[in-house]
Amino acid sequence: MTETILPLTLTGRRILLIIAGGIAAYKSLDLIRRLRERGASVRVVMTEAAQHFVTPLAAAALSENPVHTELFSLTDESEMGHIRLSREADLLVVAPATADILAKAALGLAGDLAATLLLATDKPILVAPAMNVVMWNHPATQANLATLRSRGVFQVGPGSGDLACGEVGGGRMAEPLDIVAAVELALTPIRPLQGRRALVTSGPTFEPIDPVRYIGNRSSGKQGHAIAAALQRLGAETILVAGPTHEPAPPGVRFVAVETAREMLDACLAALPVDIAVCAAAVADWRADTVADQKIKKGAGGTPVLHFVENPDILATIAGRGSDRPALVVGFAAETQDVLAHAQAKRQRKGADWIVANDVSPATGTFGGDLNTVHVITAEGIDSWPPATKAEVAARLAGRIAAIFGGRP
Ligand code: CTP
Repeated sequence: MTETILPLTLTGRRILLIIAGGIAAYKSLDLIRRLRERGASVRVVMTEAAQHFVTPLAAAALSENPVHTELFSLTDESEMGHIRLSREADLLVVAPATADILAKAALGLAGDLAATLLLATDKPILVAPAMNVVMWNHPATQANLATLRSRGVFQVGPGSGDLACGEVGGGRMAEPLDIVAAVELALTPIRPLQGRRALVTSGPTFEPIDPVRYIGNRSSGKQGHAIAAALQRLGAETILVAGPTHEPAPPGVRFVAVETAREMLDACLAALPVDIAVCAAAVADWRADTVADQKIKKGAGGTPVLHFVENPDILATIAGRGSDRPALVVGFAAETQDVLAHAQAKRQRKGADWIVANDVSPATGTFGGDLNTVHVITAEGIDSWPPATKAEVAARLAGRIAAIFGGRP
Protein backbone atom coordinates (compact mmCIF):
# COMPACT_ATOMS: atom_id res chain seq x y z
CA MET A 1 0.00 0.00 0.00
CA THR A 2 1.32 3.45 -0.80
CA GLU A 3 0.21 6.35 1.29
CA THR A 4 0.28 9.82 -0.16
CA ILE A 5 0.18 12.88 2.02
CA LEU A 6 -0.88 15.91 0.04
CA PRO A 7 0.83 19.14 0.97
CA LEU A 8 -1.71 21.72 2.13
CA THR A 9 -0.20 24.33 -0.13
CA LEU A 10 -3.47 26.20 -0.62
CA THR A 11 -4.81 26.31 2.93
CA GLY A 12 -7.06 29.31 3.39
CA ARG A 13 -6.85 30.29 -0.28
CA ARG A 14 -10.12 31.23 -1.97
CA ILE A 15 -10.39 30.23 -5.59
CA LEU A 16 -13.15 31.44 -7.89
CA LEU A 17 -13.35 28.86 -10.65
CA ILE A 18 -15.06 29.94 -13.85
CA ILE A 19 -16.08 26.97 -15.98
CA ALA A 20 -16.74 27.92 -19.59
CA GLY A 21 -18.44 25.78 -22.20
CA GLY A 22 -16.05 23.20 -23.55
CA ILE A 23 -15.82 19.44 -23.35
CA ALA A 24 -12.81 19.84 -21.02
CA ALA A 25 -15.31 21.09 -18.40
CA TYR A 26 -15.51 17.54 -17.08
CA LYS A 27 -11.87 17.87 -15.96
CA SER A 28 -12.82 20.99 -14.02
CA LEU A 29 -14.84 18.83 -11.66
CA ASP A 30 -11.66 16.97 -10.80
CA LEU A 31 -9.88 20.32 -10.51
CA ILE A 32 -12.35 21.39 -7.80
CA ARG A 33 -11.49 18.25 -5.84
CA ARG A 34 -7.72 18.71 -6.32
CA LEU A 35 -7.83 22.33 -5.18
CA ARG A 36 -9.86 21.43 -2.12
CA GLU A 37 -7.54 18.53 -1.26
CA ARG A 38 -4.79 21.12 -0.90
CA GLY A 39 -6.82 23.24 1.45
CA ALA A 40 -8.39 25.79 -0.91
CA SER A 41 -12.02 26.81 -0.78
CA VAL A 42 -13.63 26.89 -4.20
CA ARG A 43 -16.61 28.84 -5.51
CA VAL A 44 -17.78 27.97 -8.98
CA VAL A 45 -19.28 30.11 -11.70
CA MET A 46 -20.56 28.41 -14.84
CA THR A 47 -21.39 29.97 -18.18
CA GLU A 48 -24.59 28.94 -19.87
CA ALA A 49 -22.63 26.86 -22.38
CA ALA A 50 -20.73 25.09 -19.58
CA GLN A 51 -24.02 23.74 -18.25
CA HIS A 52 -24.38 21.70 -21.44
CA PHE A 53 -21.26 19.77 -20.43
CA VAL A 54 -21.43 19.50 -16.64
CA THR A 55 -24.21 20.29 -14.20
CA PRO A 56 -24.20 23.01 -11.55
CA LEU A 57 -25.32 20.29 -9.14
CA ALA A 58 -22.08 18.32 -9.63
CA ALA A 59 -19.96 21.46 -9.18
CA ALA A 60 -21.96 22.47 -6.10
CA ALA A 61 -21.59 19.02 -4.56
CA LEU A 62 -17.84 18.94 -5.14
CA SER A 63 -17.19 22.52 -4.05
CA GLU A 64 -19.72 22.39 -1.19
CA ASN A 65 -20.74 25.89 -2.20
CA PRO A 66 -23.61 27.26 -4.27
CA VAL A 67 -22.80 27.55 -7.97
CA HIS A 68 -23.40 30.89 -9.66
CA THR A 69 -24.70 31.06 -13.20
CA GLU A 70 -26.71 34.25 -13.65
CA LEU A 71 -25.61 37.86 -13.79
CA PHE A 72 -29.01 39.06 -12.65
CA SER A 73 -30.14 36.54 -10.11
CA LEU A 74 -32.14 37.91 -7.22
CA THR A 75 -31.02 35.14 -4.92
CA ASP A 76 -27.37 35.51 -5.84
CA GLU A 77 -27.50 39.29 -5.64
CA SER A 78 -29.04 39.17 -2.18
CA GLU A 79 -26.54 36.58 -0.99
CA MET A 80 -23.46 37.77 -2.83
CA GLY A 81 -23.19 40.37 -5.59
CA HIS A 82 -20.89 39.79 -8.52
CA ILE A 83 -18.45 42.44 -7.38
CA ARG A 84 -18.09 40.76 -4.00
CA LEU A 85 -17.86 37.37 -5.67
CA SER A 86 -14.87 38.46 -7.71
CA ARG A 87 -13.21 40.44 -4.94
CA GLU A 88 -13.59 37.85 -2.22
CA ALA A 89 -11.32 35.46 -4.05
CA ASP A 90 -7.54 35.31 -3.97
CA LEU A 91 -7.38 34.07 -7.55
CA LEU A 92 -9.79 33.66 -10.46
CA VAL A 93 -9.21 30.49 -12.48
CA VAL A 94 -10.85 30.07 -15.88
CA ALA A 95 -10.85 26.38 -16.81
CA PRO A 96 -11.65 25.53 -19.48
CA ALA A 97 -10.94 28.95 -20.99
CA THR A 98 -12.69 28.74 -24.33
CA ALA A 99 -11.85 30.93 -27.33
CA ASP A 100 -15.09 32.78 -26.58
CA ILE A 101 -14.34 33.71 -22.97
CA LEU A 102 -10.74 34.65 -23.82
CA ALA A 103 -12.06 36.98 -26.52
CA LYS A 104 -14.59 38.51 -24.12
CA ALA A 105 -11.93 39.01 -21.45
CA ALA A 106 -9.48 40.54 -23.92
CA LEU A 107 -12.16 42.97 -25.13
CA GLY A 108 -13.50 43.71 -21.68
CA LEU A 109 -17.04 42.57 -22.49
CA ALA A 110 -19.43 42.07 -19.61
CA GLY A 111 -22.49 40.43 -21.11
CA ASP A 112 -22.72 37.52 -18.69
CA LEU A 113 -21.68 36.69 -15.16
CA ALA A 114 -18.36 35.03 -16.05
CA ALA A 115 -17.18 37.88 -18.29
CA THR A 116 -18.37 40.49 -15.80
CA LEU A 117 -16.37 38.87 -13.01
CA LEU A 118 -13.21 38.92 -15.12
CA LEU A 119 -13.74 42.63 -15.75
CA ALA A 120 -14.77 43.52 -12.21
CA THR A 121 -11.97 41.75 -10.37
CA ASP A 122 -8.84 43.28 -8.94
CA LYS A 123 -7.35 39.83 -8.27
CA PRO A 124 -4.92 37.75 -10.35
CA ILE A 125 -6.42 35.62 -13.10
CA LEU A 126 -5.18 32.23 -14.36
CA VAL A 127 -6.53 30.83 -17.62
CA ALA A 128 -6.36 27.22 -18.82
CA PRO A 129 -7.21 27.42 -22.53
CA ALA A 130 -9.01 24.51 -24.17
CA MET A 131 -10.39 24.38 -27.68
CA ASN A 132 -10.14 22.82 -31.11
CA VAL A 133 -6.67 23.08 -32.68
CA VAL A 134 -7.76 25.38 -35.51
CA MET A 135 -9.44 27.74 -33.06
CA TRP A 136 -6.33 27.60 -30.88
CA ASN A 137 -4.01 28.42 -33.78
CA HIS A 138 -6.25 31.21 -35.06
CA PRO A 139 -4.50 34.59 -34.92
CA ALA A 140 -7.54 36.04 -33.12
CA THR A 141 -7.15 33.60 -30.22
CA GLN A 142 -3.39 34.07 -30.06
CA ALA A 143 -3.76 37.86 -30.14
CA ASN A 144 -6.40 37.74 -27.38
CA LEU A 145 -4.11 35.63 -25.20
CA ALA A 146 -1.15 37.90 -25.87
CA THR A 147 -3.31 40.84 -24.75
CA LEU A 148 -4.35 39.03 -21.59
CA ARG A 149 -0.76 37.98 -20.78
CA SER A 150 0.46 41.53 -21.30
CA ARG A 151 -2.04 42.52 -18.58
CA GLY A 152 -0.49 39.98 -16.22
CA VAL A 153 -2.96 37.15 -16.72
CA PHE A 154 -1.33 33.79 -15.98
CA GLN A 155 -1.71 30.95 -18.46
CA VAL A 156 -1.32 27.21 -18.04
CA GLY A 157 -1.31 24.94 -21.10
CA PRO A 158 -2.78 23.99 -23.41
CA GLY A 159 -1.00 20.77 -24.20
CA SER A 160 -1.16 19.02 -27.50
CA GLY A 161 -2.43 15.58 -28.43
CA ASP A 162 -5.76 13.95 -29.28
CA LEU A 163 -8.60 16.42 -28.94
CA ALA A 164 -12.20 15.58 -28.11
CA CYS A 165 -13.25 16.89 -31.54
CA GLY A 166 -11.28 14.04 -33.14
CA GLU A 167 -8.45 16.23 -34.39
CA VAL A 168 -4.88 16.17 -33.14
CA GLY A 169 -2.83 19.19 -32.12
CA GLY A 170 -2.63 22.04 -29.64
CA GLY A 171 -5.67 23.03 -27.60
CA ARG A 172 -6.01 20.29 -24.98
CA MET A 173 -6.64 21.72 -21.54
CA ALA A 174 -3.82 21.29 -19.02
CA GLU A 175 -4.37 18.39 -16.60
CA PRO A 176 -5.98 19.33 -13.26
CA LEU A 177 -2.71 18.75 -11.35
CA ASP A 178 -0.84 21.06 -13.74
CA ILE A 179 -3.50 23.69 -13.15
CA VAL A 180 -3.08 23.20 -9.38
CA ALA A 181 0.70 23.73 -9.77
CA ALA A 182 -0.01 26.90 -11.76
CA VAL A 183 -2.46 28.07 -9.08
CA GLU A 184 0.23 27.57 -6.43
CA LEU A 185 2.70 29.57 -8.49
CA ALA A 186 0.21 32.33 -9.30
CA LEU A 187 -0.39 32.69 -5.57
CA THR A 188 3.31 32.64 -4.76
CA PRO A 189 3.77 35.85 -2.83
CA ILE A 190 7.54 36.08 -3.13
CA ARG A 191 9.71 35.70 -6.16
CA PRO A 192 12.80 34.05 -4.70
CA LEU A 193 14.77 34.17 -7.94
CA GLN A 194 14.20 37.88 -8.48
CA GLY A 195 17.45 39.43 -9.70
CA ARG A 196 18.86 36.10 -10.94
CA ARG A 197 19.42 35.19 -14.57
CA ALA A 198 18.63 31.72 -15.85
CA LEU A 199 19.44 30.00 -19.13
CA VAL A 200 17.51 26.90 -20.23
CA THR A 201 18.05 24.75 -23.33
CA SER A 202 15.14 22.73 -24.63
CA GLY A 203 13.90 20.59 -27.49
CA PRO A 204 15.90 18.68 -30.09
CA THR A 205 18.47 20.00 -32.50
CA PHE A 206 18.12 19.41 -36.23
CA GLU A 207 21.35 18.73 -38.10
CA PRO A 208 21.04 19.27 -41.85
CA ILE A 209 22.12 16.74 -44.46
CA ASP A 210 21.01 18.75 -47.49
CA PRO A 211 18.57 21.67 -47.97
CA VAL A 212 15.53 19.47 -47.26
CA ARG A 213 16.74 16.68 -44.96
CA TYR A 214 18.03 16.66 -41.43
CA ILE A 215 18.83 14.37 -38.54
CA GLY A 216 16.74 15.04 -35.47
CA ASN A 217 15.23 13.29 -32.46
CA ARG A 218 11.89 12.90 -30.71
CA SER A 219 12.36 15.47 -27.95
CA SER A 220 9.15 17.50 -27.56
CA GLY A 221 10.68 20.33 -25.53
CA LYS A 222 7.90 19.97 -22.96
CA GLN A 223 10.20 19.51 -19.98
CA GLY A 224 12.69 22.24 -20.90
CA HIS A 225 9.97 24.76 -21.73
CA ALA A 226 8.19 23.98 -18.46
CA ILE A 227 11.44 24.56 -16.53
CA ALA A 228 11.96 27.92 -18.22
CA ALA A 229 8.39 28.90 -17.35
CA ALA A 230 8.81 27.77 -13.73
CA LEU A 231 12.08 29.66 -13.24
CA GLN A 232 10.56 32.76 -14.76
CA ARG A 233 7.53 32.53 -12.45
CA LEU A 234 9.87 32.44 -9.48
CA GLY A 235 11.30 35.73 -10.64
CA ALA A 236 14.38 34.74 -12.65
CA GLU A 237 15.07 36.64 -15.84
CA THR A 238 14.95 33.59 -18.07
CA ILE A 239 16.35 32.93 -21.53
CA LEU A 240 15.10 29.82 -23.30
CA VAL A 241 17.23 28.57 -26.18
CA ALA A 242 15.18 25.97 -28.00
CA GLY A 243 15.47 23.73 -31.00
CA PRO A 244 12.44 23.13 -33.22
CA THR A 245 9.35 22.13 -31.16
CA HIS A 246 5.59 22.65 -31.19
CA GLU A 247 5.63 24.03 -27.65
CA PRO A 248 4.64 27.68 -27.32
CA ALA A 249 7.25 30.06 -25.90
CA PRO A 250 6.36 30.53 -22.22
CA PRO A 251 5.08 34.02 -21.40
CA GLY A 252 7.65 36.45 -20.09
CA VAL A 253 10.60 34.27 -21.11
CA ARG A 254 13.19 35.55 -23.61
CA PHE A 255 12.94 32.99 -26.37
CA VAL A 256 15.75 32.20 -28.82
CA ALA A 257 14.88 29.71 -31.56
CA VAL A 258 17.75 27.67 -33.00
CA GLU A 259 18.08 24.61 -35.20
CA THR A 260 21.53 23.08 -34.86
CA ALA A 261 23.74 22.21 -31.91
CA ARG A 262 26.28 24.82 -32.95
CA GLU A 263 23.59 27.52 -33.13
CA MET A 264 22.38 26.43 -29.71
CA LEU A 265 25.89 26.69 -28.29
CA ASP A 266 26.40 30.16 -29.80
CA ALA A 267 23.07 31.36 -28.39
CA CYS A 268 23.94 29.97 -24.96
CA LEU A 269 27.37 31.55 -24.88
CA ALA A 270 25.83 34.87 -25.97
CA ALA A 271 23.43 34.62 -22.98
CA LEU A 272 26.25 34.36 -20.41
CA PRO A 273 26.76 35.45 -17.69
CA VAL A 274 23.83 33.75 -15.95
CA ASP A 275 23.41 32.45 -12.41
CA ILE A 276 21.62 29.26 -13.39
CA ALA A 277 21.96 27.08 -16.49
CA VAL A 278 19.62 24.14 -17.05
CA CYS A 279 20.49 22.08 -20.13
CA ALA A 280 17.38 20.07 -20.94
CA ALA A 281 17.82 19.96 -24.71
CA ALA A 282 18.29 16.67 -26.50
CA VAL A 283 21.25 17.88 -28.51
CA ALA A 284 22.23 15.76 -31.51
CA ASP A 285 25.56 14.16 -30.67
CA TRP A 286 26.73 14.20 -34.29
CA ARG A 287 26.22 16.18 -37.46
CA ALA A 288 27.05 15.37 -41.08
CA ASP A 289 30.56 16.63 -41.78
CA THR A 290 29.45 18.13 -45.09
CA VAL A 291 26.01 19.48 -45.90
CA ALA A 292 25.08 19.10 -49.58
CA ASP A 293 24.23 22.41 -51.29
CA GLN A 294 21.50 20.74 -53.36
CA LYS A 295 19.03 18.00 -52.51
CA ILE A 296 20.81 14.64 -52.75
CA LYS A 297 19.21 12.68 -55.61
CA LYS A 298 18.66 8.96 -55.87
CA GLY A 299 20.36 7.10 -58.67
CA ALA A 300 23.73 8.04 -60.06
CA GLY A 301 25.92 7.88 -56.96
CA GLY A 302 24.20 4.84 -55.37
CA THR A 303 23.17 4.95 -51.69
CA PRO A 304 24.65 8.00 -50.00
CA VAL A 305 27.08 7.44 -47.15
CA LEU A 306 27.07 10.02 -44.38
CA HIS A 307 30.18 10.88 -42.41
CA PHE A 308 29.59 12.34 -38.99
CA VAL A 309 31.56 14.65 -36.77
CA GLU A 310 30.82 15.16 -33.10
CA ASN A 311 28.86 18.21 -32.05
CA PRO A 312 30.10 20.46 -29.26
CA ASP A 313 28.80 19.48 -25.82
CA ILE A 314 26.87 22.53 -24.65
CA LEU A 315 26.45 21.40 -21.05
CA ALA A 316 30.13 20.52 -20.67
CA THR A 317 31.16 23.79 -22.34
CA ILE A 318 29.01 25.88 -19.98
CA ALA A 319 30.11 23.87 -16.92
CA GLY A 320 33.76 24.26 -17.95
CA ARG A 321 33.68 28.05 -18.30
CA GLY A 322 36.00 30.09 -16.13
CA SER A 323 34.93 33.36 -14.59
CA ASP A 324 31.51 33.33 -16.27
CA ARG A 325 30.59 29.79 -15.23
CA PRO A 326 27.03 29.87 -13.84
CA ALA A 327 26.84 29.29 -10.08
CA LEU A 328 24.57 26.30 -10.72
CA VAL A 329 24.78 24.09 -13.81
CA VAL A 330 22.08 21.45 -14.19
CA GLY A 331 22.11 18.79 -16.88
CA PHE A 332 19.70 16.05 -17.84
CA ALA A 333 20.52 12.44 -18.49
CA ALA A 334 18.08 10.64 -20.70
CA GLU A 335 18.89 6.97 -20.29
CA THR A 336 17.33 3.70 -21.36
CA GLN A 337 19.24 1.41 -19.00
CA ASP A 338 21.33 1.62 -15.77
CA VAL A 339 19.82 5.07 -15.35
CA LEU A 340 21.49 6.07 -12.07
CA ALA A 341 24.97 4.72 -12.84
CA HIS A 342 25.09 6.37 -16.26
CA ALA A 343 23.72 9.62 -14.89
CA GLN A 344 26.24 9.73 -12.05
CA ALA A 345 29.07 9.19 -14.51
CA LYS A 346 27.61 11.91 -16.76
CA ARG A 347 27.57 14.42 -13.88
CA GLN A 348 31.27 13.90 -13.30
CA ARG A 349 32.23 13.76 -16.96
CA LYS A 350 30.40 16.95 -17.92
CA GLY A 351 31.22 18.90 -14.76
CA ALA A 352 27.54 19.60 -13.96
CA ASP A 353 26.48 20.36 -10.38
CA TRP A 354 23.23 18.43 -10.69
CA ILE A 355 22.00 15.86 -13.15
CA VAL A 356 18.30 15.21 -13.51
CA ALA A 357 18.13 11.62 -14.69
CA ASN A 358 15.16 10.07 -16.36
CA ASP A 359 14.36 6.75 -17.94
CA VAL A 360 13.30 7.36 -21.54
CA SER A 361 12.98 3.75 -22.64
CA PRO A 362 9.89 3.44 -24.89
CA ALA A 363 7.87 1.59 -22.21
CA THR A 364 7.95 4.67 -19.93
CA GLY A 365 6.29 6.96 -22.52
CA THR A 366 8.46 9.85 -21.25
CA PHE A 367 9.60 11.08 -24.66
CA GLY A 368 6.78 13.21 -26.03
CA GLY A 369 4.50 12.26 -23.12
CA ASP A 370 3.33 14.41 -20.22
CA LEU A 371 4.65 12.37 -17.28
CA ASN A 372 8.22 12.10 -16.08
CA THR A 373 9.91 10.12 -13.32
CA VAL A 374 13.20 11.72 -12.35
CA HIS A 375 16.12 11.34 -9.97
CA VAL A 376 18.10 14.41 -9.01
CA ILE A 377 21.77 13.54 -8.63
CA THR A 378 23.97 16.00 -6.77
CA ALA A 379 27.34 15.80 -5.02
CA GLU A 380 25.38 14.95 -1.84
CA GLY A 381 23.48 11.99 -3.28
CA ILE A 382 20.37 10.94 -5.15
CA ASP A 383 16.87 12.28 -4.63
CA SER A 384 14.23 10.18 -6.42
CA TRP A 385 10.94 11.94 -7.11
CA PRO A 386 7.61 10.18 -7.68
CA PRO A 387 6.11 10.17 -11.19
CA ALA A 388 4.73 13.61 -11.94
CA THR A 389 3.69 15.76 -14.85
CA LYS A 390 6.47 17.64 -16.56
CA ALA A 391 5.02 20.90 -15.22
CA GLU A 392 5.18 19.50 -11.68
CA VAL A 393 8.76 18.30 -12.18
CA ALA A 394 9.61 21.77 -13.50
CA ALA A 395 7.98 23.52 -10.55
CA ARG A 396 9.73 21.24 -8.07
CA LEU A 397 13.11 21.67 -9.76
CA ALA A 398 12.67 25.44 -9.87
CA GLY A 399 11.76 25.34 -6.17
CA ARG A 400 14.87 23.37 -5.37
CA ILE A 401 16.98 25.80 -7.38
CA ALA A 402 15.35 28.73 -5.56
CA ALA A 403 16.16 27.08 -2.24
CA ILE A 404 19.89 26.97 -2.96
CA PHE A 405 19.81 30.64 -3.95
CA GLY A 406 18.56 31.44 -0.51
CA GLY A 407 14.83 31.73 -1.02
CA ARG A 408 11.92 29.36 -0.80
CA PRO A 409 9.17 29.49 -3.41
N1 CTP B 1 24.13 17.85 -23.93
C1 CTP B 1 24.62 19.02 -24.44
N2 CTP B 1 25.28 19.02 -25.64
C2 CTP B 1 25.47 17.88 -26.31
C3 CTP B 1 24.98 16.66 -25.80
C4 CTP B 1 24.29 16.69 -24.60
O1 CTP B 1 24.44 20.08 -23.82
N3 CTP B 1 26.10 17.92 -27.46
C5 CTP B 1 23.49 17.87 -22.63
C6 CTP B 1 22.00 17.60 -22.61
O2 CTP B 1 21.26 18.80 -22.74
C7 CTP B 1 21.81 16.98 -21.24
C8 CTP B 1 23.11 16.23 -21.02
O3 CTP B 1 24.05 16.85 -21.88
O4 CTP B 1 21.71 17.96 -20.24
C9 CTP B 1 23.09 14.77 -21.27
O5 CTP B 1 22.52 14.48 -22.51
P1 CTP B 1 22.42 13.00 -23.01
O6 CTP B 1 21.87 13.00 -24.40
O7 CTP B 1 21.76 12.15 -21.98
O8 CTP B 1 23.95 12.61 -22.99
P2 CTP B 1 25.03 12.44 -24.09
O9 CTP B 1 26.14 13.39 -23.86
O10 CTP B 1 24.41 12.48 -25.43
O11 CTP B 1 25.58 11.01 -23.73
P3 CTP B 1 25.16 9.56 -24.29
O12 CTP B 1 24.61 9.77 -25.66
O13 CTP B 1 26.44 8.85 -24.24
O14 CTP B 1 24.15 9.03 -23.30
